[in-house]
Amino acid sequence: MSKHLHHDIVIIGAGAAGLTLALELANEHKVAILTKGDISEGSTLYAQGGVAAVMSDKDTVDSHVQDTINAGAELGNEDAIRFTVENSKPSIDWLIDQGVPFTRNGESDDYHLTKEGGHSHRRIIHAADATGLAISQTLVKNALAHPNIHFYPDRVAIDLVTTQKLGLSEQNRVIGLYALNQKTDTVEVFHAHRVALATGGSSKVYLYTSNPDTASGDGIAMAWRAGCRVGNMEFNQFHPTCLYDAKAKTFLISEAVRGEGGRLLLPDGTRFMFNFDERGELAPRDIVARAIDHEMKRLGVKHVLLDISHKDPEFIKEHFPTIYKRCLNYGHDMTKGPIPVVPAAHYTCGGVVVDQHGTTDVTDLYAIGEASYTGLHGANRLASNSLLECIVYARSAAQKMLADNEPRADYQIPDWDSSKVTDSDEDVVITHNWHELRRFMWDYVGIVRTNKRLLRAKHRVDLLLSEIEEFYSNYRVSADLLELRNLAVVADLIIQSAMARKESRGLHFTLDYPDKHENSTPTILKPRIRSSELENPSACPHIA
Ligand code: FAD
Ligand code: SIN
Repeated sequence: MSKHLHHDIVIIGAGAAGLTLALELANEHKVAILTKGDISEGSTLYAQGGVAAVMSDKDTVDSHVQDTINAGAELGNEDAIRFTVENSKPSIDWLIDQGVPFTRNGESDDYHLTKEGGHSHRRIIHAADATGLAISQTLVKNALAHPNIHFYPDRVAIDLVTTQKLGLSEQNRVIGLYALNQKTDTVEVFHAHRVALATGGSSKVYLYTSNPDTASGDGIAMAWRAGCRVGNMEFNQFHPTCLYDAKAKTFLISEAVRGEGGRLLLPDGTRFMFNFDERGELAPRDIVARAIDHEMKRLGVKHVLLDISHKDPEFIKEHFPTIYKRCLNYGHDMTKGPIPVVPAAHYTCGGVVVDQHGTTDVTDLYAIGEASYTGLHGANRLASNSLLECIVYARSAAQKMLADNEPRADYQIPDWDSSKVTDSDEDVVITHNWHELRRFMWDYVGIVRTNKRLLRAKHRVDLLLSEIEEFYSNYRVSADLLELRNLAVVADLIIQSAMARKESRGLHFTLDYPDKHENSTPTILKPRIRSSELENPSACPHIA
């Protein structure tokens, strides 16, 4: 017998998006938040640079809108962009009201605004170089203190339960989900009238990433399996500057370091970014990452250098205390000389297709934050627009939910059935496939693509998908198997989307089609729910 838990609203994920939604709803609704591991773990915790917003009198909404359109290589949706930017100041005010300690300008009451690539104004509000930590700590503290918010940590959401999948109705409505409780190693059934996916991105599909382990695209894969469209998955952003150091794995060096004067150098000390773009180090990220990749391949070197040591050491320590200390721990003193950097997978510009309130193709299912595709980022995200999107769309989703008083029916959800499966005797298959997938995604579907590489990747992912499906059908689920299953789905979505785009634009660069097309549109993929599941819901081995 599975444990059944009943909530009106279940939010999967406690990053900036999930926590904002929960706090906005909690005075009216009881809310449950599931997290894969610890409550705080997720990309939000590690965000450095800040949140982009129109805060200064010298700045304008139009200017932020235009910078976002330009960075997104003209593929962004102008309505979504304007909606986000117009809501930037109220969103920052909301964060300030929650108590986020943003950095002030010296002794004054004004907030310090920093600069990042692609921005024509100083408009990044930040908490030194650990903005995500400040946001996460503040929102987690407030959520833990709220009597209507109930956390379920160590729960890996497996799949959404919809009326269509259970054969209950023609309308595809979400009614709950299954989640693996990692403490008890049992699968629990969460019943809900509304579910929000706030599960973050999928950059872990690549071998080298700035992201934490939570970023395996679970929400995107779950939404896809439940019948949602997914958009623009070919546009995975590579951050140009992660510390190159075997001990550091991939520690991010904020773009704000370049914003405050940091220069990119070749190993012989030559500055090179102006050979690629007149904006130099502050060109949008796709351009900088591609330039570094090009120079590394041309010279056969393992990294380039980032140098801010020409600035006053006290300025560096004050503005970048976290980065300075972490680099020093690894033996690199950024006040004294350049540090080694490489690009790494950083951000998923695509995701679950949503409208301005975060609603998806499945009734009562919402997607917010990095898991969603709102149209804001187009073919490349402008720096620090992501946390902004999390807050703006979470607040907008909350408004929609609060305005909706329609009563919902309560449905029966079958127990999770483990009687037809056994313990795996070959976990090596999971680890092997996990390494293989992330390696070929890096090599074949990375910063520079070709038709041939994409086709190779497609053959491999097809094979992995069928192996994983067989594994999933025959063996008891584990966190590692669930993660691999989701990584393979998002890898396939990225490859399919990249194969469909016959041009180079923003983050998608292919040697076979080096130019932009004139009338380019977003890539929207539509899932086919397998007829076996519709005709025979119990075909799923785990549903009793
Ligand atoms: P996350 O914060 O990633 O949270 C995801 C949540 O979902 C977690 O709670 C996780 O446990 C949960 N989850 C996932 N899968 C499951 C599952 N199957 N079951 C249960 N729970 C699940 N953006 C900016 O705008 N400015 C910056 O300065 C900035 N710096 C960055 C620096 C780094 C190093 C990184 C990695 C990203 C940075 N970004 C920045 C991007 C930004 O931080 C993220 O896009 C944003 O925080 C995503 O927030 P989110 O709420 O969507 O998801
Ligand atoms: C950074 O600080 O460089 C990250 C900013 C972002 O990802 O938007």
